[in-house]
Amino acid sequence: MIRHASVADKAAILDIAVDSGLFPAEHVGELSEMMDAQLGATSEGHHWIVQESERGTLQGAAYYAPEALTDGTFNLYFIAVREILKGKGVGSALLHYVEHQLKQEQGRVLIIETSSLDNYNLTRRFYLKHEYTEVARIPEFFSAGEDKVVFWRKLKA
Ligand SMILES: CC(C)(COP(=O)(O)OP(=O)(O)OC[C@H]1O[C@@H](n2cnc3c(N)ncnc32)[C@H](O)[C@@H]1OP(=O)(O)O)[C@@H](O)C(=O)NCCC(=O)NCCS
Repeated sequence: MIRHASVADKAAILDIAVDSGLFPAEHVGELSEMMDAQLGATSEGHHWIVQESERGTLQGAAYYAPEALTDGTFNLYFIAVREILKGKGVGSALLHYVEHQLKQEQGRVLIIETSSLDNYNLTRRFYLKHEYTEVARIPEFFSAGEDKVVFWRKLKA
């Protein structure tokens, strides 16, 4: 089941962020602070969603929000799945859910930013598989030798 996250899900989402390999444990404090604002009721258009198993365990999570000063462009800032469950369709289900929700909200374009490093090869393959187009690379964005790769998809009405 995929549902919107609440403040009560925060610890499990932070656990997924580390377990998936996306966030080093030492950066989890920064993510935690960002989540406090994003999970608040005042963050209109900002959505944390989670995939929950029948037993009530959170398996994956995603966060998307509108890009400021655009007409219907959203950014998928976070998507992660527990290591043991990768490759079993959880990420695809979360991405499809985001796309479906955005179409209801007049979302027009979804962009996703990731890293050029080899350990993100499978992640980039995941976006290509879901018909996202690589539209930009910003050299050395994250660090020396690590570019930012931007994927883009137009959301059909
Ligand atoms: C990228 C991620 C969200 C995809 O979710 P997922 O549940 O593993 O993916 P699905 O099972 O829905 O889809 C499988 C496809 O995803 C890709 N994929 C990405 N990572 C994978 C992994 N570790 N194992 C298997 N497939 C993976 C493959 O292209 C695969 O399809 P293929 O085997 O036909 O090539 C997830 O692997 C993850 O959390 N990765 C680490 C965190 C991350 O990179 N997040 C995105 C930051 S921008």
